[in-house]
Amino acid sequence: MNSTQHMHTATAIAHANIAIAKYWGKRDEQLNLPLFDSVAFGINELVTQTTATWTDEASEDALFIDGWHVPPQRIERMQRMMDIVRARKGWTKKCLLHSHNAFAHSSGLASSASGAAAAASAMSGAAGLDLSPTELSVLARHGSGSAARSIHAGWTRWHAGTSPDGSDSYAVQFAPPDHWPLDVFVVQLSTARKPVSSTECMKQCELSPFWQTYCAEASAAADIAQKAVMDRNFASLTAAAHHNAMMLHALVMSCPQPVCYFEPQTIAVIQKIFRMSTAIPVCCTIDAGPNVVVLCEEIACPFVKNEIMALDVPFIQTTIGGGAKITA
Ligand code: PMV
Repeated sequence: MNSTQHMHTATAIAHANIAIAKYWGKRDEQLNLPLFDSVAFGINELVTQTTATWTDEASEDALFIDGWHVPPQRIERMQRMMDIVRARKGWTKKCLLHSHNAFAHSSGLASSASGAAAAASAMSGAAGLDLSPTELSVLARHGSGSAARSIHAGWTRWHAGTSPDGSDSYAVQFAPPDHWPLDVFVVQLSTARKPVSSTECMKQCELSPFWQTYCAEASAAADIAQKAVMDRNFASLTAAAHHNAMMLHALVMSCPQPVCYFEPQTIAVIQKIFRMSTAIPVCCTIDAGPNVVVLCEEIACPFVKNEIMALDVPFIQTTIGGGAKITA
C-alpha cells in the first residue's frame, strides 16, 4: 500500500468462484441479499487484479476494466462499496479502480465475483481499513453477490443470513483447496457479453410457474453440496451439481420472457460429461452463461482432458484455489 498526503493506493487480486449450489434469487436487491445459502469453489487461473486509488484530485469515481473506461452509470455497484469505505473514513475522496482480468469478463465466468472481491480488497486496503475476512466478504457482496465467496480460497459457503441489514450475510471457507485435490477444466465457449444480466434474469424467474418448486429445492441445496464435499463423495457431488445447474437453467428457460444461456456447444459438452459421469468421477456445472466448468478426480483427469479435446473447444485446465489478497 502506498500513501502520499492526497493519494492512497493498493493493488489486490481475487479469483472467480463457481457455485455447485447456486445463488439465484434475492431477498433484497439493494443489498444483494440472497434467498438461500450457496456453495462454491475458487478457481486458480481465473484471476482479476485491481489497483484502487483514493484521491482528492479526481472529480468523479471511475472504473477501468482492461483499459476500458466503464460508463459512470454502470459503476453503481462499485460505488456502493466506495460509499461504505468513504463513510468509514469520513472521506470525500474519489476512488479510481483499474482492473485487469486474466479471462473474458461478463461471459458467465464469474468475473463479477473476482472483480468485486478484488475491488473490495484493494479499496479497503488503500484506505488503510484492516477488515476481517467476514467484513471484506460483506463489503464485496455489495459489489456482486457471488463476490462474497471470492474473498476466501477453496470451498466456501455464503450464508444467506436473516438480518434485514445484511450484516449476517457473508461467506466462510468450510474446506481449504487441498481438502480434495480435484482437477478443473473451464470450457470457454463464448467471450461475448451475456444477453441478460443475472440480476435481471433472477427477477424474471420469480414469474416462472416453477418458481416455488425451485425455491423448495434450492433451500436444501447448500447442505447437500457441502456434505458431498466434506465427505469427498464424488457421486453425491455429481448428483448435487448436475441437479442444481439444470434446475437453474430450466427455470431460466421457463420465464415469461425465456432466456437460454446455452450455445450449441454447451449442450455437446454437457451431454458428454453427463454420459461419462455414469462411469468415471467427472461432473460439471454452468453459471448464467454458455461456458461449462468441469470437475474431476485426478485419476480420471487424462481421460477427461482427451474427451474435451476431442470436442475441439477452447478450455483452461486448472485447480481449486482462490482467495483475495493485497499484492502491493
Ligand atoms: O453475483 P452475481 O450477481 O453476478 O450473480 C451470480 C449468480 C451465478 O453466478 C449464476 C450463481 C452463483 O452462485 O455464482
